[in-house]
Amino acid sequence: MPATSLEELPGVGPATAEKLRDAGYSDLMAIAVESPKVLAELAEIGENTAIKIIAAAKQAADVGGFETGDIILERRKNIRKLTTSSKALDELMGGGMESQSIIELYGEFGSGKTQICFQLAVNATRPLEDGGLDGEVFVIDTENTFRPERIVQMSLAHDLDPEEVLKKIHVARAFNSHHQMLLVEKAQELASDINVRLLIVDSLTAHFRAEYVGRGALAERQQSLNKHMHDLLRFGDLNNAVVAVTNQVSAKPDAFFGDPTRPIGGHIVGHAATYRVYLRKSKGGKRIARLVDSPSLPEAEAVISVSEDGIRD
Ligand code: GTP
Ligand code: MG
Repeated sequence: MPATSLEELPGVGPATAEKLRDAGYSDLMAIAVESPKVLAELAEIGENTAIKIIAAAKQAADVGGFETGDIILERRKNIRKLTTSSKALDELMGGGMESQSIIELYGEFGSGKTQICFQLAVNATRPLEDGGLDGEVFVIDTENTFRPERIVQMSLAHDLDPEEVLKKIHVARAFNSHHQMLLVEKAQELASDINVRLLIVDSLTAHFRAEYVGRGALAERQQSLNKHMHDLLRFGDLNNAVVAVTNQVSAKPDAFFGDPTRPIGGHIVGHAATYRVYLRKSKGGKRIARLVDSPSLPEAEAVISVSEDGIRD
């Protein structure tokens, strides 16, 4: 019989169970997806114990059902690729941004994350033969950085009617991380009436980072982020949509993810994202995009430019 409560995990007595709960780990799934290092620190247990607990939690957690390969193949036949307006970036991504997946764009401020989102929003409204998705767009804007003026510029550059494009881009401000998560539910509701093919969350992590401060809050933050990522992935699957999210790198060392060039949210975000693209500034307004993590493509780089017209080679 697999364990159903914390106390039934091997090596977890009442005292450790209490430590785990105090640290925010109240269910087995939360433990199953955590790293040994973080779990050991937060629950004040040895790392070897943490490894054993995580392994047992993985076996016991309700990880969901199974689908047969033919059904997955059928769904994957519907996958489409959304152009970025840069040939080099499209090639890097295996032909464009893939639907039914989460694309995480991460990098420091001004690296072009939001600009790429604007370009994707414009392009998603274009017909399939132009590399678009012939659909509409939802934007969850957490930092009030949505700029319709940029949509107008990028639309004109592709000979599109800006007003038509703007009418297909639905923007919601998220005031905190909880609101942000609720908006994904709302988006799913609205998707029955709106032909949505792209969901943007810009920024994915800013609210989480601001709200869950300090060590004690880390486990809780990671659990919420984990749920959020899975909600987003589900949205992408259900709507055959591209999900594009942005993430900053931590400017100062995070409690556990100390490396200043690492994206926020650690491997909770990293594992849930299907593609991770690291953006960095280069000379003369150029940006370098590096594909960091992908199920089927090699790690490689593309050089893009950000101009008034949008994203280009
Ligand atoms: P944060 O949200 O602060 O983390 O950064 P970000 O990665 O989202 O940055 P964003 O995509 O907003 O990039 C901003 C940069 O894009 C600016 O510093 C400019 O270099 C460039 N940019 C934005 N708009 C224009 C424009 O109209 N013309 C040109 N040439 N460049 C632009
Ligand atoms: Mg931005």
